[in-house]
Amino acid sequence: MTDLPMPRLYFDNAATSFPKPPAVQGAMVHYATHLGASPGRGAYAETIEAGRRMNRCRDLICRLIHGESADHVIFTLNCTDALNLALRGVASHYRQMNRPIHVVTTELEHNSILRPLNALKDEGVEHTRVPCDPVTGLVDIDDLRNAIQPHTRMVAMLHGSNVSGTLQPIREVGSITREREILLLVDAAQTLGHYPTDVQDLNIDLLAFPGHKGLLGPLGTGGLYIRPGVDHQIHTIREGGTGSVSEQDVQPDFMPDKFESGSHNALGIIGLAEGVQWILDQGVEQLWQNEQTLSQMMLNGLLGIPGLRLLGPQALEDRCGVFSIVTDGWSPAELAGILEEHYGILSRPGLHCAPLAHQIFGTMKSGGATRLSLGPFLHEDDARHVIEAVHEVCKTGVEVNS
Ligand SMILES: Cc1ncc(COP(=O)(O)O)c(C=O)c1O
Repeated sequence: MTDLPMPRLYFDNAATSFPKPPAVQGAMVHYATHLGASPGRGAYAETIEAGRRMNRCRDLICRLIHGESADHVIFTLNCTDALNLALRGVASHYRQMNRPIHVVTTELEHNSILRPLNALKDEGVEHTRVPCDPVTGLVDIDDLRNAIQPHTRMVAMLHGSNVSGTLQPIREVGSITREREILLLVDAAQTLGHYPTDVQDLNIDLLAFPGHKGLLGPLGTGGLYIRPGVDHQIHTIREGGTGSVSEQDVQPDFMPDKFESGSHNALGIIGLAEGVQWILDQGVEQLWQNEQTLSQMMLNGLLGIPGLRLLGPQALEDRCGVFSIVTDGWSPAELAGILEEHYGILSRPGLHCAPLAHQIFGTMKSGGATRLSLGPFLHEDDARHVIEAVHEVCKTGVEVNS
């Protein structure tokens, strides 16, 4: 990586965010250099300080999402791990009580919801996938309401699509789930840190999120917010040492220890705290406004390019900063290769771990799409550069291939 041809322009924030605020790296270096101890695993100053820094991260996340209790922010490996804990934990709770369980989800989901739900079928967990609009990807709220059955315990769905950028109507879904007294599990992989998210206002019971995307922490971090009270409807899926009540050979039932077995990724979590602090300092409303400005530029610029199709909604209010495109002249992988080689633009071609979404948009057989995704360190000039580059490549693609 020493002889890269030109400055790199990172447009793959939907995979993981880059760059991170400098304080993230600073906190990780400080921990690795001066502390190094495992939080909650000793009484000496370093472990106490590591624990304090880790719990500060819980507090900051709780503040960002307007949670009711920081102890209900559970650290996980990533968003997939958080979704597995929520889905499998709730399934296990109902199975133990010998009660049937049905989950409502959507066709737009990432494999991190689709695959656990498919695996859980073998354990008697039924699910219904609500269809999404083939152009916008939006779910029809009446279809979702009608999919709820007497034994439905949960609606599990993403907030923002990592394929089409579609922002699903989570507020309306939250009103329905609260009224029907079923759980709402939201996959906020593409929205937390970008979009102002208030779990109490939106009636979200379970919020799964990565630490390494919108929250600007390092890879290997993530979390699940569990609304107080809902923790009793979730079984542990992993038991082990917690550094607490060690005289007991069964899992503690208090939070967060109930769901945090084994030593933590203290290095990552302490870095993550600084990512969240940076977001709080900037103001997530302001960050969202900046992203909307770039999104509007991307919409205007990309929609005007002949031979290009942009997946997902054309209305700004229905989308987040994820833009997947297909072109007449180039395959998604070819387009990504040209953007990198000739323009230094880093994008993500393929199916984005969301096969059903690509089926909806009719892009499954042709190799998916090329995804460009926004982050808080991109500027208007960057958006202009990417639009001009795509324009130029599309023009030559049509010439070369016609
Ligand atoms: C919508 C969505 N859900 C879940 C995930 C999984 O996130 P993680 O890689 O943190 O497990 C992703 C990752 O791209 C995603 O885009």
